[in-house]
Amino acid sequence: MSFKSLIALSALAVTVLAAPPRRAACSNGRTASDAACCVWFDVLDDIQENLFDNAECGEDVHEGSCDQSLRLTFHDAIGFSKNLTAHGQFGGGGADGSIMAFAQIETNFHANVGVDEIVETQRPFALKHNVAFGDFIQFAGAVGVSNCAGGPRLQFLAGRSNISQPSPDLLVPEPSDAADKIFARMEDAGFSIIDTVDLLASHTVAAQDKVDASIPGTPFDSTPSTFDAQFFVETLLNGTLFPGNGSNVGEVLSPLHGEFRLQSDFEIARDSRSACEWQSFITDHTKMVTKFESVMKRLATVGHNPNSLTDCSEVIPVPKAVTLPPPTLPAGQTLGDVQGACAATPFPRLSTAPGPATSVAPVPPS
Ligand code: HEM
Ligand SMILES: *[C@@H]1O[C@H](CO)[C@@H](O)[C@H](O)[C@H]1NC(C)=O
Ligand SMILES: *[C@@H]1O[C@H](CO)[C@@H](O)[C@H](O)[C@H]1NC(C)=O
Ligand SMILES: *[C@@H]1O[C@H](CO)[C@@H](O)[C@H](O)[C@H]1NC(C)=O
Ligand SMILES: *[C@@H]1O[C@H](CO)[C@@H](O)[C@H](O)[C@H]1NC(C)=O
Repeated sequence: MSFKSLIALSALAVTVLAAPPRRAACSNGRTASDAACCVWFDVLDDIQENLFDNAECGEDVHEGSCDQSLRLTFHDAIGFSKNLTAHGQFGGGGADGSIMAFAQIETNFHANVGVDEIVETQRPFALKHNVAFGDFIQFAGAVGVSNCAGGPRLQFLAGRSNISQPSPDLLVPEPSDAADKIFARMEDAGFSIIDTVDLLASHTVAAQDKVDASIPGTPFDSTPSTFDAQFFVETLLNGTLFPGNGSNVGEVLSPLHGEFRLQSDFEIARDSRSACEWQSFITDHTKMVTKFESVMKRLATVGHNPNSLTDCSEVIPVPKAVTLPPPTLPAGQTLGDVQGACAATPFPRLSTAPGPATSVAPVPPS
């Protein structure tokens, strides 16, 4: 071989090495970094149309599916206890799909009241596409919340085993639990107090159906279809009323007609260990979203080694770019109604929404 052709050959070798890795061809002309991700494009198409009613987050008849799918990511994953394992017992498999595989056991746990509905709604989609239950639950949660204005774009790793065992009971926090108990439980699953506050950004797009079953669809803040910080403001207002017949176990006084306040959110908003992280989101939407994205990477992989999973995050839609208005004090409220609890930083000076006090509208049931 001549010197010239050797050079040509090595140039070719360099070109081949430097070429971008070949992408796998998926349906509808899409490509993925790994062939294992292709199926998730098909799942995406199906659930956006048929589970989330054309990629809706709010104001829609099937609205609840997006919120409930996000909630389910937590109720599956939090079934994991280092303490139980240390005592020689089965501590749960974390984000393993056991809440779907053993729904007849886990959805009967008291803290999982209402979760049976979304489990049974999701199950046929997982079976149809032949994907593992644990993967499906985390995928649906990530896609659902990507539909919310201002929402996060969560990581999605695929490849969890479909084999699981039922989670032990009493691992899912209850809204009637004291902050101490919730923090201890979260720590036992690998989440700090700050992580717990970060996870509660989920409650910016949330409503209750079962704590007061007479008023399903009662939201936790006045903007339940946007992933904004209004929840972190309104949980700090002085509570004055019950939106329904009150007082139910796990419920405390709310500041607004039509709004529901969980005892756990009330306490965590005011606890000196969590109050500053809580308040900080009010003036920093980017922080709220990035910290939620970061902690959700860990929630979605509780009980798994993330390095053994395949990164299919490219399938998760990019949330619509929107400029959300800054958080406000609801009409009729003043700074004097705020029970600020962060000793280090004064409560931010927010403007008050104009007009007379209004009632928060319920979110339609799914
Ligand atoms: C830390 C302790 C937590 C407690 C005590 C708690 C408690 C609750 C309760 C009682 C409800 C109302 C359920 C109903 O009556 O329908 C609820 C709703 C919800 N939770 Fe949590 N939660 C916690 C953490 C989380 C986390 C970590 C996530 C997700 C990352 C989450 C996501 C949601 C969502 C999205 C809803 C609304 C569901 C819907 O609109 O149908 N929660 N939570
Ligand atoms: C840890 O697990 C043991 C064994 O089940 C139990 O007795 C104990 O109450 C648990 N501790 C905590 C803090 O949950
Ligand atoms: C996952 O396990 C369930 C039983 O728990 C089974 O019905 C389903 O077909 C399994 N899915 C896959 C992809 O193996
Ligand atoms: C709540 O109050 C309403 C109106 O008074 C009543 O119709 C309803 O039955 C009550 N619900 C519960 C669960 O007590
Ligand atoms: C909070 O609301 C209660 C009514 O539930 C009222 O009596 C009290 O004065 C309020 N506190 C403040 C600081 O506004």
